[in-house]
Amino acid sequence: MDTIDLYQIHRWDYDTPIEETLATLDDAVRRGDVRYVGASSMWTHQFADALHTSDREGYERFATMQNHYNLAYREEEREMLPFCQTERIGVMPWSPLARGYLTRPDEDIDATTRGETEEHMYRHPYREGGGTAVNERVAELADEKGVKMAQIALSWLFHKEWVDTPIVGTTSVEHLEDAVEALDIDLSASDVEWLEEPYEPVRVSGHE
Ligand SMILES: NC(=O)c1ccc[n+]([C@@H]2O[C@H](COP(=O)([O-])OP(=O)(O)OC[C@H]3O[C@@H](n4cnc5c(N)ncnc54)[C@H](OP(=O)(O)O)[C@@H]3O)[C@@H](O)[C@H]2O)c1
Repeated sequence: MDTIDLYQIHRWDYDTPIEETLATLDDAVRRGDVRYVGASSMWTHQFADALHTSDREGYERFATMQNHYNLAYREEEREMLPFCQTERIGVMPWSPLARGYLTRPDEDIDATTRGETEEHMYRHPYREGGGTAVNERVAELADEKGVKMAQIALSWLFHKEWVDTPIVGTTSVEHLEDAVEALDIDLSASDVEWLEEPYEPVRVSGHE
């Protein structure tokens, strides 16, 4: 392609001054190679520093934040998500289904090939705090509404004002179609509250 619509940096670069990163990204936009630039998981103070530096130096601002956010991991609600809302930053969460944890009952996870081999999933604290109770509630509501667990988990994200577009990980057309259908699921305020209730703060995960 001639132009990249959204060019995202992956995490905070501790070895390069942010001025240098932003100047380079700004060049790419000025040359017409890139339309928008985005950032990914980092501390909110680092993202604030980047936006402030762009404003001060007249560089292209980050337009998006790709961060770790799902029903089983909500630490981003403390700082990053309200900050993105104030700064009018587009939010596109990664692992919106908690790497598959919110797509099947907790007891079935280890039975899957991915569960047996996927060390990554266990690096994240999805089962800590109230995670297993959240998983149960997703299953219960999915049963009640006659939809899939993955669709309830995605629908919850679609109901969060600060989310623009979750990046769903899928290897099948069927799962992609499930994701699109989830746009039509209506959750009441009490459904949302009920799904969220068991969650307890957990350790930060994704940019530690
Ligand atoms: N910026 C970052 O630091 C960062 C970090 C992690 C990930 N990411 C990005 O985020 C994207 C998503 O990450 P992820 O793969 O961890 O995401 P995820 O969407 O949370 O989980 C994907 C898992 O859910 C399953 N799934 C999806 N739809 C389903 C459905 N309808 N029913 C049952 N199971 C379903 C998938 O199975 P199937 O494969 O069988 O569909 C897969 O096992 C990736 O493209 C990755 O590049 C970015």
